[in-house]
Amino acid sequence: MKHRTIIEPFRIKSVEPIGLSTEAQRAEQLKAAHYNPFLLRSEDVVIDLMTDSGTGAMSAHQWAGVMEGDEAYAGSRSWVRMEKAVQDLTGMRHVLPTHQGRAAERIIYGHLGGAGKVFISNTHFDTTRANIEYSGATAIDIPIPEGQDPAAQHPFKGNMDLEQLDQLLKQHQGRVGAVILTVTNNSGGGQPVSLANAEGVSAICKRHGALFMLDCCRVAENSWFVKHREAGMGNRSYREIAQRMFALADGAVMSAKKDGMVNMGGFLALRDADLAEACTNLLIITEGFTTYGGLSGRDMEAIATGLDEVFDPHYLDYRIRSTTFLGDRLHELGVPLMRPIGGHAVYIDAKALYPHIPPAQYPGQALVCELYLLGGIRSVEIGSVMFGKRLEDGTETYHAMELVRLAIPRRVYTQSHIEYVAETFEEIMRTRDRAKGFRIVKEPRFLRHFTAHFEPLP
Ligand code: F0G
Repeated sequence: MKHRTIIEPFRIKSVEPIGLSTEAQRAEQLKAAHYNPFLLRSEDVVIDLMTDSGTGAMSAHQWAGVMEGDEAYAGSRSWVRMEKAVQDLTGMRHVLPTHQGRAAERIIYGHLGGAGKVFISNTHFDTTRANIEYSGATAIDIPIPEGQDPAAQHPFKGNMDLEQLDQLLKQHQGRVGAVILTVTNNSGGGQPVSLANAEGVSAICKRHGALFMLDCCRVAENSWFVKHREAGMGNRSYREIAQRMFALADGAVMSAKKDGMVNMGGFLALRDADLAEACTNLLIITEGFTTYGGLSGRDMEAIATGLDEVFDPHYLDYRIRSTTFLGDRLHELGVPLMRPIGGHAVYIDAKALYPHIPPAQYPGQALVCELYLLGGIRSVEIGSVMFGKRLEDGTETYHAMELVRLAIPRRVYTQSHIEYVAETFEEIMRTRDRAKGFRIVKEPRFLRHFTAHFEPLP
C-alpha cells in the first residue's frame, strides 16, 4: 500500500519541554521586547519558526560523534573527516572551517571587496549584503522577474536573471568582486535555482572572467526541487545533483547550520590556491588555525555526519513535503503566500494580507506581532524592516516585497505543532482588518531588524 501520510522518518529519543503561555502574558512579553521578536526570550515562545538556522535536532549518530570529537589544536582527526566530507561533496580542494556562514562571508567578501567593487547575486542574504557593504563595495540583486512576484508560478523562482548578469558584468568590467548564486534563494522566498540557471551563470562568469561563488547552505533542499522539477534529473541522486552544481562554481560559502544539520558551523571552499592562501591568512587572524577555524572538534564531527544525512532521500522527502503541508494549509485558509512553497519556509505576503497597512508602517512587523500574540509563534519579517534603510536625510527606502517567514527547524516539530500554527492563522484571517501598523523608535545602522525597537500605531 502507498500511504498518503508523510511520516517523520525518525523516532524521538530526547525531548525538550515547551513553555505554554496565555495571550495576556504574551502581550506583556511582546511589549517588554519592544515589539521585536528577536528581543524575546526563547522560553516565552511556544513554536519557534524564527529560523531554520542552527535550530535543528541532531541525530543519535551525530551526538555519538560529539563524544568522538578530537579537540587537538592542529591536525585533529575530526578535521580530517570534515575536510574530506566537504571535498567529496564540493569537489573543491581548499576548505576553510568557520564558526558560521557569515564568518566565511567576511573572509572571502572582505578580501574581494572594498570601495568601488560590485557583487551580483540572485538575492544577497542580509549578512552577505552587510559584509559586502561593510567592505565599501556594492551588492546588486538580480532575481528573475517572477521571483519578485509572490503569486507568479514558476518552478525555479530563485533563478538569477542571466541577461542582466551579462549586462552588469560588461558594465562593471574589472570591478566585480564575485557573482553569488544563493541556493535556495532564502531572501527571495526560499525558492529553488535550476541546474540550467547555474550552468548559465557559470558560462557567463567564465566569459567575463568573474568569480562564481555558490551560497550553498540549503543545497540539499535545492537538489530536491531540481530532481522533481527539472527535465532529465529524475534519475539522479540528490547528492549527485548537488555535486553537479558545485562543479560549476569557483567556490562555495556554507552556513552548516542549515543543510549541515548542526547547531553551529560553516566553511569556505575554494578551487584557487592563491585565493585560498589569502583567505587562510584572514582565517587564522580572526577565526582560528586552519584545522579548526572557528569550530570545536565535536562540531566538525557533527558536520561531517550531517552533510551525509541531509542527502537521505526519505529525510529530504519528509523535509520538503512537510514545509509544503504547512503552505497548503495556509493557502486553503486564503492566506496570501509566496507560491509555489519553497524548501525551508513558508513566506506570507503581508502586503496582500494587510492592504490597509502601508510599507512605511511595516505590515510584516504587524503580522509577526499578531502571530506571537495569538499563538506564541515566533516568525521573522523579511521586508522593509530587514531590507529598508534610513538615509542620512532621515527619509527611508522600502523593499519590493513585505514578507513574513515561517522557517521550519529540521527534525524538530511534529505535524500537530504545524496544525496549531495553521489554527492560529484562522484567527489571523478573522481579525485581519483590525491589525495595526508600527513605527520604529530606535534602530542601528547595519542589520537593523535584529535590535530595532518598535511602537504600535494608534
Ligand atoms: N547565506 C544564507 C542564504 C543564509 O540564509 C544565511 C543565514 C547565511 C548566509 C549566514 O549564515 O547565519 O551561519 O552566519 N541565514 C539564517 C536565516 C540566519 O535565518 O535564514 P550564518
